[in-house]
Amino acid sequence: MSKTKEEDFCLSGRGVTKVFGAGENRTVAVDHVDFDFREGEFISLVGESGSGKTTLSKMLLGLISLTEGEIQYQGKPRELSTGRKRREYWKGIQAIFQDPFASYNMFNRIDSVLLDCINMRGGRNLSRKQKAEKMAEACGFVNLKYEELTNKYPFELSGGQMQRLMIARIFLLKPKILLADEPTSMIDACSRATILDMLQKLRNEIHMTILFITHDIGLAYYVSDTVYIMEHGKFVEHGSADEVILHPKAPYTRHLIEDVPKIYEEWNLDA
Ligand SMILES: Nc1ncnc2c1ncn2[C@@H]1O[C@H](COP(=O)(O)OP(=O)(O)OP(=O)(O)O)[C@@H](O)[C@H]1O
Ligand SMILES: [Mg+2]
Repeated sequence: MSKTKEEDFCLSGRGVTKVFGAGENRTVAVDHVDFDFREGEFISLVGESGSGKTTLSKMLLGLISLTEGEIQYQGKPRELSTGRKRREYWKGIQAIFQDPFASYNMFNRIDSVLLDCINMRGGRNLSRKQKAEKMAEACGFVNLKYEELTNKYPFELSGGQMQRLMIARIFLLKPKILLADEPTSMIDACSRATILDMLQKLRNEIHMTILFITHDIGLAYYVSDTVYIMEHGKFVEHGSADEVILHPKAPYTRHLIEDVPKIYEEWNLDA
């Protein structure tokens, strides 16, 4: 991408820091990170367990406060001081989490999960038929059959179906930015590829900015434009996927790349 104008940045951070606890229990989870995410960019955030990825994504979502630093949304400092401002911000930024079971109210039927999204996007006054069409379109986007799901409850779906339903919600909500914190960890390789394809489709068709959080540097190379490598709360390297993964500069990045074959060896059942 050749665009570099500052107004193209939909989310930027300077000196973003999160410290948990104090004294002996003090943990610097995120340590003065800077970033600029562009509209329509597919970004992967890669790092080992405990490197601070989820903590950073919670700060981006405005679920936890920053200890230090500043986050700008669409070129302006974020406004999260009132419930109304937070709700406005969440129209622009949404997340799908590691555990899809945690993302739904289990006692709401699937059609009401999807209807909520339509209402949130100002579709409250659409006719029943128009709402049903929108729900069917969203299900179609993720290869789910709306007619088969409409009267079910989330706990009646398989893990893979539930994750696809999460993406159908995002399709209806159409946020500018989607944070996807290892949405693939619970499912098999085939569904995993499908989910990643759907994230790319969201990026391509709706021009969403996607921040994909993963341990898997191989996967990051496969899906993203830009990669940020995180170690102990700091970004040790970032750049285009080619730059970072084919020509890594930081020893930690090389270490992550060297680990890739080892990950697959563990799964070699014939060995
Ligand atoms: N609420 C909290 N209170 C205290 N420490 C926390 C809290 N949340 C996270 N931490 C600590 O911050 C560090 C970063 O945690 P974080 O969950 O961001 O890592 P992560 O990169 O998402 O790891 P994983 O890949 O395992 O999900 C860890 O040392 C963790 O123990
Ligand atoms: Mg995490």
